[in-house]
Amino acid sequence: MKYSGKFIVLEGPDGSGKTTQIARIEEYLRQRGADFISTREPGGVAVAEKIRRVILDVDNAMSGLTECLLYAAARREHLLNKVIPALEQGKTVICDRYVMSSLSYQGYGRGLGSDVLDINKRAISVNGEEYWPDINIYLDVTPEVGLGRIHAKDADREINRLDLEQADFHQKVRDGYLQLIQEYEGQFAEIDASQSEEQVFADIKNVIDSLLFAESRQDFS
Ligand SMILES: Nc1ncnc2c1ncn2[C@@H]1O[C@H](COP(=O)(O)OP(=O)(O)OP(=O)(O)O)[C@@H](O)[C@H]1O
Ligand SMILES: [Mg+2]
Repeated sequence: MKYSGKFIVLEGPDGSGKTTQIARIEEYLRQRGADFISTREPGGVAVAEKIRRVILDVDNAMSGLTECLLYAAARREHLLNKVIPALEQGKTVICDRYVMSSLSYQGYGRGLGSDVLDINKRAISVNGEEYWPDINIYLDVTPEVGLGRIHAKDADREINRLDLEQADFHQKVRDGYLQLIQEYEGQFAEIDASQSEEQVFADIKNVIDSLLFAESRQDFS
């Protein structure tokens, strides 16, 4: 391993609470005095933010493969220019979505299958090394719950092109995530995100504590 920081990714369907929980994680890590950055995909650096606007624009119809390639391009720019430099400085990186989002949304949701993995392996390979997260914290909700939250009258979140997909697409995405958890056992921590915000955070905190703070825990008994 060429870096000492930990790479933590939040995954889950639309409206599962990733962005909400990242704000809580930031507050917690600040309290603990951890050296960290928090970032999001697609985006996080200027070129990738521009690609994000192309992908999410409700006026841009495009093929599933085009969408997959755009996500992968944004991912690589973000990885090279933001994630890897932070990890190399020993920082913890908290990232809203990464490769598992492409595998579920484009692989399962769009039905592109294993092409998505091939494209993403290329996108996250740097000097012969693939940059996979230390953990994917997966927030599980049904499409009914997730989309219900997003479309709630008081939700402050913008509606994007992928939100406008049919219910069937969102069901495939969630089923895709559940398959990926089986396939990539050990890379996921699965959390029931239909619980209250407080309870979801308590579960996330356990995962983060064991990843970041367990080795420094001292036993005075
Ligand atoms: N545990 C929860 N219970 C009820 N509502 C919640 C919970 N967590 C988040 N919400 C609300 O659900 C909505 C969506 O949450 P959020 O934007 O954090 O989801 P997200 O996973 O980031 O969605 P997206 O993938 O679309 O970016 C927000 O209005 C938020 O306040
Ligand atoms: Mg979000």
